[in-house]
Amino acid sequence: MSAPTIPTVDLEDLRSGDPTRVAAACAAIREAFGTYGLAYVKNHGVDPAAVERTYDGFRRLTEKPLAEKESLARRDDWFQRGWTPPNTEIAVGAGGQPDFKECYFAAPYERDAELSAQYPELYPANVWPDDGDAWAKEYVAMGRALHEAGIELLRGAALALDLPAASFTDVIEGGAHVTRVLHYLALAAEQTNKGIVWGEEHTDFNMLTLLPGGRFVNPEGKPSPKPDDKSGLFLRTRGTPSNPGGVQVRGRPPEGCIVAQIGQELEILTGGRFVATPHVITAPGVPNWTRDSSAHFVHANPNRILYPLPQFLDANARKAYGPPVLAGTYSIKTLVDIGLAPKTAIDKLGYRHYDRLETQRRA
Ligand SMILES: [Fe+2]
Repeated sequence: MSAPTIPTVDLEDLRSGDPTRVAAACAAIREAFGTYGLAYVKNHGVDPAAVERTYDGFRRLTEKPLAEKESLARRDDWFQRGWTPPNTEIAVGAGGQPDFKECYFAAPYERDAELSAQYPELYPANVWPDDGDAWAKEYVAMGRALHEAGIELLRGAALALDLPAASFTDVIEGGAHVTRVLHYLALAAEQTNKGIVWGEEHTDFNMLTLLPGGRFVNPEGKPSPKPDDKSGLFLRTRGTPSNPGGVQVRGRPPEGCIVAQIGQELEILTGGRFVATPHVITAPGVPNWTRDSSAHFVHANPNRILYPLPQFLDANARKAYGPPVLAGTYSIKTLVDIGLAPKTAIDKLGYRHYDRLETQRRA
């Protein structure tokens, strides 16, 4: 089977206001998100040199002593800010194998005071290394550029589904958007070709993920082309009756493009018209190579309801995506599922004062 062609969405077409160009972008979005769950994005405004500098900064941090990195880990904030150690996050459906990576989380925008009070672990303060001012600046600028591209794409996505342009951008207003930088770890010779992957296959749980593109780094520490054909980002297309498993395709954006992926929240809102993209980061078959990459996660506002919009609500959508759930509740449950939040976080999702009656009865 030949590799499917994933459409490229030109954000300049969406900005142009020219009906023909906007229609072309919408057609690309419908096919990209509807069939593949991902799009290549052109004229996105993300500076590739700034992305490289952000990766260089994180690479320097990963080389620091463990104690220094541990001081930047925020377990009580469910690792939603600062450093995440290796062997922490687990992809749902990965059979319990933690990912072979360390990463960093930071929010590119100021926090809303009320939402931070309601959801403290989803909106912690950013944390930076003592010598990290310049890195923080680059990091936040990269996150904002990715987020802005995401906003333009979400407006296009609404138009592509014949919805008012602000249908999805309204939903993400105030969301706990977060930018992550990742460092995939070197495998020793005896670990290669043993089924260890850098990031297990999963779908993202947010609205939209923007990926500015990763880079391989050779054993001498120099960014280099991929060491073999098996390593890197692979995406799984939607299953069809003749091919229910879908097709795994290498994420290979055209020169200068970034990748946008649909997450579960947007799949739910669209009743499955757009599909969350399963993706996996495979490790190379040769030892001592590493990989740097990054992802910006655009989230629904935690007080929005996740349920198919009226236009997409039929018996199938109700069955697949009901009952309606608050996006904040959904996030907390997912963060428990993937090993970042403790199981006790679930207990807070219902009434937690049953013991009061017991105390009263004893009084
Ligand atoms: Fe992901």
